[in-house]
Amino acid sequence: MADLAIIGGTGLTTLKNLEITRHEPMQTPWGEPSGPLVYGHVGHSEVVFLARHGPQHTIPPHRVNYRANLWALREAGAQQVIAVAAVGGIRAELQPGILSIPDQIIDYTWSREHTYFESDLSEVTHIDFTRPYSEELRQALITAARDSGVPLVDGGVYAATQGPRLETAAEIDRLDRDGCSIVGMTGMPEAALARELGLAYAHCAVVANRAAGRGTETITMEDIEASLAAGMETVRRLLETVLPVLLPPA
Ligand code: HPA
Repeated sequence: MADLAIIGGTGLTTLKNLEITRHEPMQTPWGEPSGPLVYGHVGHSEVVFLARHGPQHTIPPHRVNYRANLWALREAGAQQVIAVAAVGGIRAELQPGILSIPDQIIDYTWSREHTYFESDLSEVTHIDFTRPYSEELRQALITAARDSGVPLVDGGVYAATQGPRLETAAEIDRLDRDGCSIVGMTGMPEAALARELGLAYAHCAVVANRAAGRGTETITMEDIEASLAAGMETVRRLLETVLPVLLPPA
């Protein structure tokens, strides 16, 4: 059993510093997760890792089985989830390569399987989502970033868009007016499902590009991948610092 799960997004289909002990394919009442769960150690910390878009990065954001993913991680014993995700930077300080630990979300996605409360309405269905992220996990990530010299923006609003296309410049202007600082395609329903399962969940967002209309005239996958390669090295450094804090040796 692993108390802590890491969900890897674009640019993080494997964790280089994870010493793998086993791969475990899973089935859940909600179908199959994006890939086998990967158990292992980062230093002395036991974790379970799941590549959100599949081990070969073949599942687009609107096709990810978020319900199966979170369910499988909870079955694996996870109580805490660090969700790594690539995002576009809307606000000026969110330049490519910078990490962001948002504290709020606005959901612009549609028609995704977004709840576990489909039929058994005898349970409480209206989870509190005032603060969508675990403040304890957020603070652990922020402190670890300071301790390891990782540049990071504390707080901000994550705009979850439907994808898979990127946004128009006018859409980004609207998100800006709504108060959003970063934009990504996978933050919801993932965060809400984690809350429905009672998991502590936080986002570790890596800015891959300036959002549409905020930087270069066109956004290319090559540019995104180049920024992510550097950004994910930073994520690995951050994880090496934060995991021993969240999972102290017994
Ligand atoms: N928009 C939405 N999702 C993203 C972006 C973006 O600009 N960059 C990486 N994921």
